[in-house]
Amino acid sequence: MIEIRPCAGFDELEACVRLQVETWGYEDSDVIPRKVFLVAQSIGGQVIGAFDSEIAGGGAKSLVGFVFSLPGVKVGLGLPRAYLHSHMLAVKDAYRNRGIGRELKLEQRREALSRGVCHIEWTFDPLEIKNAFLNIHRLGAIVRSYRPDFYGVSSSRLQGSLPTDRLVAEWWLDSRRVRSIIAGQSSVVNQVNQRIKVPASIYSWKSSNAERERALAVQSENRTKFQEAFARGQAVLGYTRDGEGNGVFELGPLSQLELN
Ligand SMILES: CC(C)(COP(=O)(O)OP(=O)(O)OC[C@H]1O[C@@H](n2cnc3c(N)ncnc32)[C@H](O)[C@@H]1OP(=O)(O)O)[C@@H](O)C(=O)NCCC(=O)NCCS
Repeated sequence: MIEIRPCAGFDELEACVRLQVETWGYEDSDVIPRKVFLVAQSIGGQVIGAFDSEIAGGGAKSLVGFVFSLPGVKVGLGLPRAYLHSHMLAVKDAYRNRGIGRELKLEQRREALSRGVCHIEWTFDPLEIKNAFLNIHRLGAIVRSYRPDFYGVSSSRLQGSLPTDRLVAEWWLDSRRVRSIIAGQSSVVNQVNQRIKVPASIYSWKSSNAERERALAVQSENRTKFQEAFARGQAVLGYTRDGEGNGVFELGPLSQLELN
């Protein structure tokens, strides 16, 4: 049994820090410390954990996943608006691909909506096929912004020493699109104007010194495609994967239906 609930107390927050290091393999300078998790919780952010009730001792010992967000403010048209920036989602290796990541995000959404917050954003690596599938296809996020080398140099082992390019996922929590996708309907993109592909071999290319150049080539080619498409008013609205594990972003015109 997996219980999804806010993390409470120093030990559970420290367990999130440990899982962060286990997941990304960060050097000390990249690790977000317990204090920041604590501050985030006390200023309107979220630290939500997944706990395996079968693990003896419970609490911090049983933490198998977490999602962490910070509160943010959007300025622009109209009054400043509160939103959440989700900075980390991690599930222990042995617990992956059984829906825990999605459950953590759904709890994040539920809790945000209960406070009247309708928008969560996060960044993700466009080369991570699984994350893109989860974010766009399973959660209903959309994308219309590309940040080249967003974090600068990162010690994350998942990054494979590539520039930290990121897409910005926008999750419009109460939109018709998101409500229907999380209710189990598949995300059908009515008009696909462009497809951007990521080969399944990207994972092995990123992690091999001999083949990293190939990953870099895909990254820079796709960077140009995304930037040009977003400049033309296109947005990522769909994501598919084929039987061999290749991923495909589907881009089309963003109508207000996607956001309301
Ligand atoms: C990203 C992460 C949190 C997802 O957690 P999870 O519990 O495995 O996620 P879920 O099981 O809820 O959903 C994963 C989905 O991706 C699918 N998937 C798995 N491997 C995949 C792949 N190689 N390509 C495409 N989709 C894949 C799963 O089948 C599942 O979809 P389904 O529900 O339709 O079957 C987890 O993999 C992780 O901790 N990764 C390392 C850290 C990370 O990248 N975090 C996100 C960025 S901050």
